[in-house]
Amino acid sequence: MERQEALALRREYFMPCAQHFYKDPPLFVRGDMQYLYDERGKKYLDFFAGVSVMNCGHSNPFIIERVAAQLGKLQHLTNVYLTGPVLRLAERLAQVMPGRPALPGTAPYGSSGLVSSFFCNSGSEANEGALLLARLVTGKRKFIALNGGLHGRTYLTQAATGIPMWRADPFLPSDVYFAGNAADVIAALEKDRNIAAFICEPIQGNGGIRPVPPDFFKEIAGPLNAHGALLIVDEIQSGFARTGKMFAIEHYGVVPDIMTMSKALGNGIPIAAFASSKEIALQFTRPSASTLGGNPVSACAALAVLDYIEQECLCAKAEENGAYLRARLDTLAAKFPVIKEVRGKGLMLGAELAFDGGDPDGGGPTDAGSVDDSARLTDRILEELKERGIILGKNGLGRNVLAFQPPLVINRGDIDFLIGNLEDTLENILERDVLQR
Ligand SMILES: Cc1ncc(COP(=O)(O)O)c(C=O)c1O
Repeated sequence: MERQEALALRREYFMPCAQHFYKDPPLFVRGDMQYLYDERGKKYLDFFAGVSVMNCGHSNPFIIERVAAQLGKLQHLTNVYLTGPVLRLAERLAQVMPGRPALPGTAPYGSSGLVSSFFCNSGSEANEGALLLARLVTGKRKFIALNGGLHGRTYLTQAATGIPMWRADPFLPSDVYFAGNAADVIAALEKDRNIAAFICEPIQGNGGIRPVPPDFFKEIAGPLNAHGALLIVDEIQSGFARTGKMFAIEHYGVVPDIMTMSKALGNGIPIAAFASSKEIALQFTRPSASTLGGNPVSACAALAVLDYIEQECLCAKAEENGAYLRARLDTLAAKFPVIKEVRGKGLMLGAELAFDGGDPDGGGPTDAGSVDDSARLTDRILEELKERGIILGKNGLGRNVLAFQPPLVINRGDIDFLIGNLEDTLENILERDVLQR
């Protein structure tokens, strides 16, 4: 297939809501760890990893071999039958999730942290399940979420999403209070006794790679407990070694009541889960099933991912290469004032672009996400880097944040290649003043 045909097929047969990056998008036909290849044989260094999914690299042979073996053995039943891989996966996750028991099976369940999982297929579905679980446990209806957070496309998760462009449904329920900081969360808890949970990403991904402040969770923990509301942490984008720890919430030293995960868990094979303490899980007794959730193939992929992360020390690598990338981005920021802020953790980094006098990103759900000069500059950079063989991400409420979320298997040479080209690109664009401001 040629890319013109691909574009024509997309126009003809896709709903227009599904948009693509780039004016002349490459048609990708092959992946090999941190590299991608298009239909013309051009090689690209991938710095977005399919939106933080391919943490272990594209077509990773270690994972493929295990998945292929499982495909040849048993592909699907459903969770009303007994199959082995998903049970091993549940056991394994209990060992790596926050608040893990010291020795598997020996800790007193309840206060021991996250040990019980429910498997499904997508991030939206995991968050929807987590919100449902919070309602069932507390008997309360409403939620608090953060401005700039993204939790999914389903009814409730869209309602809890604090980014205007991702709230397509004109009839979303008004069950969610939006907060900009810890004081807002506490104020909402005090105003309304009907709060089931507060949901947030420890580092907002789509909102522009924004880590919550260091003391944020400690400040809200007491008030949440006092009001009987649960803490749901969405690790869908930040989980599985991306930030230098298995889960980003570990940087904050708190154990959430419920945690959700997807994306990198399957390294491209659809799988998701929400998890809680035994104590909370025991209250979810009404029947619930997911036809494909944690089927033998996706569970097997996830087990291979966890093995690969451990075997290749991907947490340490993300921390080390993330620190190197960050230092190089900070140097670029010192040279180009248009880079207003570099932020994030590990290999989940963002660089916010804003011209002096321009409106930096940082609004709430009422911010319409206007396309201004910095958003246009972001697009120009992405286009130019694509021509140079680098796939970079973008996000932020104003779509003016460059997102650096590569497969965690990249090396320093890859980072140097990216930085050299980014520096050149910024020089060219800003000097040529193609934006004609
Ligand atoms: C933090 C976060 N939560 C939830 C979702 C929704 O996940 P999915 O697209 O798998 O439904 C996303 C997707 O980008 C996300 O980044």
